[in-house]
Amino acid sequence: MKILVTGGAGFIGSAVVRHIISNTQDCVVNLDKLTYAGNLENLVAVSDSDRYAFEQVDICDAAELKRVFSEHQPDAVMHLAAESHVDRSIDGPAEFIQTNIVGTYNLLEAARAYWNELDNKRKQAFRFHHISTDEVYGDLPHPSDVKSEAQSVKGESLSSVPNTSRFTLNSLPLFTEQTAYAPSSPYSASKASSDHLVRAWLRTYGFPTLITNCSNNYGPYHFPEKLIPLVILNALEGKPLPIYGKGDQIRDWLHVEDHARALYKVVTEGKIGETYNIGGHNEKTNLEVVQTICQILDDLYPIQHSKFNIQHYKELITHVSERPGHDRRYAIDASKIERELGWTPQETFESGIRSTVQWYLDNQDWVTNVQSGSYQTWISQQYGAE
Ligand SMILES: NC(=O)c1ccc[n+]([C@@H]2O[C@H](COP(=O)([O-])OP(=O)(O)OC[C@H]3O[C@@H](n4cnc5c(N)ncnc54)[C@H](O)[C@@H]3O)[C@@H](O)[C@H]2O)c1
Repeated sequence: MKILVTGGAGFIGSAVVRHIISNTQDCVVNLDKLTYAGNLENLVAVSDSDRYAFEQVDICDAAELKRVFSEHQPDAVMHLAAESHVDRSIDGPAEFIQTNIVGTYNLLEAARAYWNELDNKRKQAFRFHHISTDEVYGDLPHPSDVKSEAQSVKGESLSSVPNTSRFTLNSLPLFTEQTAYAPSSPYSASKASSDHLVRAWLRTYGFPTLITNCSNNYGPYHFPEKLIPLVILNALEGKPLPIYGKGDQIRDWLHVEDHARALYKVVTEGKIGETYNIGGHNEKTNLEVVQTICQILDDLYPIQHSKFNIQHYKELITHVSERPGHDRRYAIDASKIERELGWTPQETFESGIRSTVQWYLDNQDWVTNVQSGSYQTWISQQYGAE
């Protein structure tokens, strides 16, 4: 089987490509524009394989997409290419609309034109797997809502909580595949739009699509603008560890390699037209995550207090103003993919976060290249990119 992976040089896409090349006999065509978030160094472990090919292409370029489908003749598409950082989407939404919505539309159309010309057997077997996020569902009731309900005689404090009348701490709702979409940020709204396009292409054209919505990922090769790598790297440099507001926002963390395994299961065994939620059963507040990283660093890389004038990394934690529209809680009900496809996460948060911190300690060259931007120079030397 040959799989066209878009965004294969990014954080999750590169984990998918490494997983497929290392653990299966399938071929991969990695189609990636190589924005600031795309780094081919993430793929050095597999890029020499004769089952791997790379195409530097923008998914907004319809002619190039047509060429890639025609030259490589894939059996499936796994679509991960996207602008993915919520903070950047607030500062400048235009790229998010362009890549996540218009780019997905272009890819659907290029893939559909190609699929229409396939012989019957290959047409039946073809799959278009769209990779999305749990952020499309908006946010969920937070444990502090339960406390405020208990304190509120009339329960008015819950009036702004969607789809919910009564719940207890132990029965706080989770996102299921039936949860209504209610995105809050330009990023999640653009991803929600792309999910709707994919669903419409299935319904209108019978195009064989699948969608997955996954919770927050963490793990190696994560670009240091996101919370976990940012905290690890700032701590190592004795810089402040920024936390939005009180840090009580809850996310459901999944190790990126568990996500990659789930995605391969879905593209190879999932049922056409279905949506699968993917999550790690690891609800943590941002503050808990940052404190855990600080404890692991205290253990693995004790602070040089003479240099930074502090005893423990947690002293670097700094609360900053809340992000506009910040969702308070995400949590996934992943029972459908567990029941129907037999996928469960292999990493616990405790083991996964420790190995992630260790990875950043062991891969200072990767970090230095990313922070200095010199991975982009490496790309132009390697591929003659502009
Ligand atoms: N990171 C998470 O926690 C998370 C969770 C759930 C779902 N997702 C989704 O998974 C996908 C991958 O996320 P990620 O964290 O790896 O993102 P990332 O930002 O690390 O990588 C995105 C990749 O897409 C490429 N790209 C961007 N614009 C492109 C374009 N116009 N044409 C071709 N390539 C382009 C980039 O060069 C990069 O390699 C995204 O669709 C994201 O919405 C992410």
